[in-house]
Amino acid sequence: MLYGADYNPEQWPEHVWDEDVERMREASVTTVSLGIFSWSRLQPTPTTWDFDWLDRVIGKLHEAGIGVNLATATASPPPWMSVEHPDVLAVDENGATYWHGSRQHYSPASPTYRRLAAQLVTKLAERYAHHPAVVMWHVNNEYGCHLPSEYSDAAQTAFRGWLQKRYGGVAELNEAWGTAFWSQRYGQWEEVMPPLKAPYSRNPAQLLDYHRFMSDMWLECYLAERDIIRAAGATQPISTNMMGAFKPGNYQSWAPHIDVITDDCYPDPLDPQRPRNTAFQRDLMRSLKPGTPWLLMEQATDAVNWRRTNVSKQEGQLAAETAQSVGRGADGIFYFQWRQSRAGAEKFHSAMLPHAGTRTRTWQEASALGGQLAALPELPQPKDEDARVALVFDWENWWAIENPDHPTTLDYLSLVREWYGALHRRGVMVDIVPPEQVSDRHHLAIAPFLYLLRDEGAAALTRFVESGGVLCAGPFSDIVDANDRFRLGGFLQQLGPVLGVGLEDFRALPLPSATAIAERAGTAEIESGGDHPSSSDHVELDLTDGSTLRGTHFAEALWADDAEVLATFRTGPSATRPALTRRVHESGGQAWYVGTMPDPAALDAVIGRLLREASVAPVIENLPEGVEVARRGDVVTVINHGPTAATVSIPGTELLTGEEFGSRELAPQEFAFVKSAITS
Ligand code: GLA
Ligand code: GLA
Repeated sequence: MLYGADYNPEQWPEHVWDEDVERMREASVTTVSLGIFSWSRLQPTPTTWDFDWLDRVIGKLHEAGIGVNLATATASPPPWMSVEHPDVLAVDENGATYWHGSRQHYSPASPTYRRLAAQLVTKLAERYAHHPAVVMWHVNNEYGCHLPSEYSDAAQTAFRGWLQKRYGGVAELNEAWGTAFWSQRYGQWEEVMPPLKAPYSRNPAQLLDYHRFMSDMWLECYLAERDIIRAAGATQPISTNMMGAFKPGNYQSWAPHIDVITDDCYPDPLDPQRPRNTAFQRDLMRSLKPGTPWLLMEQATDAVNWRRTNVSKQEGQLAAETAQSVGRGADGIFYFQWRQSRAGAEKFHSAMLPHAGTRTRTWQEASALGGQLAALPELPQPKDEDARVALVFDWENWWAIENPDHPTTLDYLSLVREWYGALHRRGVMVDIVPPEQVSDRHHLAIAPFLYLLRDEGAAALTRFVESGGVLCAGPFSDIVDANDRFRLGGFLQQLGPVLGVGLEDFRALPLPSATAIAERAGTAEIESGGDHPSSSDHVELDLTDGSTLRGTHFAEALWADDAEVLATFRTGPSATRPALTRRVHESGGQAWYVGTMPDPAALDAVIGRLLREASVAPVIENLPEGVEVARRGDVVTVINHGPTAATVSIPGTELLTGEEFGSRELAPQEFAFVKSAITS
C-alpha cells in the first residue's frame, strides 16, 4: 500500500526539506509525487536548466527510503514561454487569450508547447529513468481541468487535421454533420472551424466531434510524454491523474494507454449524497482497468480552497473515505499536498502537514492513517466475480445527450448516479462501463439514458441478452448514431428487436422542481397546476402486482409489440400505455425497457426485481441506513457513513486486529476490513 502526497519542495528553502523527510517518515509516507509545478525552476530561462536541486531532493528522499512518483512538470509553462512563444497560449471561444499567472494556460494542440514540453521531459527522463528512487512517473497534471475547450489557431488547425483523419473528405464530413441543415455545407477544409461563438444553436455533430477532439488532444500530449519516458529506458509505471467522472476527458478511451489508473477525488463534505457519489467515482476508476488496482492520487486531508465555502471534514471522515477507496480497489492513497503552501492561490488548502503544525487534528489523523495502512496485509486484486452488475456509463453519450435542443434537459451523470445509488444502498457491487464492455461476466446490465448508442455497443448488449443476461434499458435510449443523427426507420432501431418494444414518442415532462424533489423525499405529493396531461412533473405507473410507482422526465409512448407489460402509466401524457416491459428470450436472458426515470422508491423496486431475476446477491444483505459495503476478492469493507451507530454482521476476521468480526456496532465514520468467508 503506497501512502503519500504531492510534494512541492521548490516552494520552500532547502533547510525545510530535512524536516519534511523526517516528518514523512513519522507519517508512514512511502512515496511522494514530486515537482508537478516546477517547470520554471527546472528551466529558468529558455536556454538554462537546473536539476541540481531536484537531484538533492530525490537523494534525501531516497536515503530515507521514500519512493518518488516523478512529475514531468509540464502542467504550468514558465512566463518566459508566453512572452517568447505566444503561440503556446490557449484561447477561449470569444478569441480572448489565457495568459500565465495561474496554470494550464497552454494549448494542448500547440506544436511549440509540445516541442518545449518534449524537451523538458527528455531531459528529466534521461536523467532519472534509472534512478532507484523513482518508482513511477506522473505525467502532467489533471489534463483539461481548467480548459475543457480551447480555440487557438493551433487548435483550429489541429481540429481540421483530426477531422480529415476521421472522415477523409469534405463530402464525408458534410454527410456526417448533416450540413444540408441551415446552409452549413462546407466546400473546402479551410472553411471548417471548431464550434466558435455563434448566434444560435450550433451543429450538434460538430459539438460532439469537438468534445472528441479535445479529449484526444489531451491524450496525445500524454502519449508524447509517455513515449519519451519509455524511450529513455524507464521501466516504471507511467500514469496521469484523472478526475473521476470528468466530462471533458473520455477516460474510457485513455485507459488502455495508462499503466495504472490514478484518480483525484475531492468529495464535498456538504453533499448529502457524498458516500454514494464517491463510491461511484471509485467504481468508475476500478472499471477502467478491470482486475487491477488503482491509486487515489489526490484527496484533501481536510478543507479545500476552491468552493464557495470550504467546510472541514468531520472527525474520522478522512479515514472512512480512504477505507472506501481501498475497499473499492485502491492500492495507494495520496493527498494534495504534503506541506500547506505559504503563499499562492492554495494557501488555505489543507495538507498532511498543516500550517499550524503537528498539534493539529489533521496531522494526527493523517499520520495515524499512514500507520494503519502500513499495518494492512497485502490485499487481493479486485476480481471479475466481485461485481456481477454492469452499469452503462459512456462518455460519448454524455457529450451527445447534454447537447442543447433536446426534448428535455438532462444531467446524465446525476441520473446515472441515481441508478447507481439504488444498487449502492443495497450493498451490490457494480462495474461502470461503456456498452461494449458489458460481457458474460456480468449477470445484470443497466443502460439508462443511452441516447447515443454505437453499433458495437448495441451488438454487445444484444449478445449479452442472447447469452442469458438480464438487461434493463431506457428511457431516452438508442436514439442516434455515432454522429448524433437519427437512425432511419424510427427510434430504438438497434435494441427494439431484443426488447420487443417500439417507441412512438418521448413525451417529456416538466423538469422535477426543487419543491417536488423535497416533497418526494418527505411527505405529501404536489402537482403543478394546469390540466394539460403533461403539466405534472411526474407520472404514476401501475405495476401488474397492484403497486403504484412514480417516474419523472419522460412518459414515453411505447408499443409493446413483442414484450410483456409489467407496468402501465396511470397518469400523464401516456396514460394507459406500457411503462415497463420485459421480453424473455429463449436463452433465459431478459430485456427490460423502462419508459420513464423511476423516482428513488420506484428505482429501488425495479432494481430489487432485476437483481432477483438475474440472481445477483449483495455483498451483505439488509444493510442499515448509511452503511456501505464493498467487496475486493475475499475482503469485505464496511463503513458507517451515517450519523448514528449501526450494527452489521459479517462472518470473518478483521484484517487490522485479527479478531473475529461477527456482529458489530460501528460508530459514525467507523470502518473495518473483514477477511470474509462469504464468496460472491
Ligand atoms: C487538483 C490539482 C492540485 C491542487 C488540488 C487542490 O487536484 O491537481 O494541483 O490544485 O486540485 O484541490
Ligand atoms: C423559427 C425559425 C424556423 C425554425 C423555428 C423552430 O420560427 O424561423 O427556421 O427554427 O423557429 O421553432
